[in-house]
Amino acid sequence: MEKLIVFNHKIYLDNKNTSLYIEKIKEYNNDNLIICPDFIELNTFLKSDLNIGAQNFSSTNQEADTGEISLSKLYGLGVKNYIIGHSERVKHHGEKLNIINKKLKLIEEKGAKAIVCVGDKKDNIFSEFLIMYQLKKIFKNIVNDNIVIAYEPVYSIGTGKILSRKKIEQRIKVIKKYFFDKKQKEVKVLYGGSVDENSIKELSISSYIDGFLIGKASADINKAIKLLEVVK
Ligand code: PGA
Repeated sequence: MEKLIVFNHKIYLDNKNTSLYIEKIKEYNNDNLIICPDFIELNTFLKSDLNIGAQNFSSTNQEADTGEISLSKLYGLGVKNYIIGHSERVKHHGEKLNIINKKLKLIEEKGAKAIVCVGDKKDNIFSEFLIMYQLKKIFKNIVNDNIVIAYEPVYSIGTGKILSRKKIEQRIKVIKKYFFDKKQKEVKVLYGGSVDENSIKELSISSYIDGFLIGKASADINKAIKLLEVVK
């Protein structure tokens, strides 16, 4: 599998289905497949050989932070990949760019992999400026090679509305140029937002799109398998 696939289950997976999900997905286990279950399911997933990621963690590290979960503990459990900057964290939890920058520093200190989400809120002439602005703030004082960027237009997440391949490629080129100009090692850029078994066929042809961050469809084992069959 050449494309990097990150499954972001959010809180979609019904825990009655977890064992069956793991059993079936194991057949597709691969270095290029990262599964990010919700925290209730995390331990069960960690018992498998699958590559596991966390959907979130606290920007404070083992301090007073009620209801949060620390990177150190997750890392200790064997979680090596971390999604940060997801627009749902921004929208529902008010996460600001300086907090995302702080989380990126914590990931860097551990030597773990960061899956950093960026994306425009509206498809217009400011889209690329907004993405550049996010990158500058998130990567302030950070040169980290162990990163993957996920370009996720906010209006495409969970809506079924996907931009044309050409537009996605254009935005990805802008992201890659940002890192190229910083003289950083080539960075993989994923696309995320309403990817399903149909759209992945068209998008995976693109050599600019290095993989996909997939939400809702990834939590349904039958759909997840169909997605993986396309890119295998
Ligand atoms: P979606 O979510 O595939 O359900 O649109 C993608 C994401 O939020 O990462």
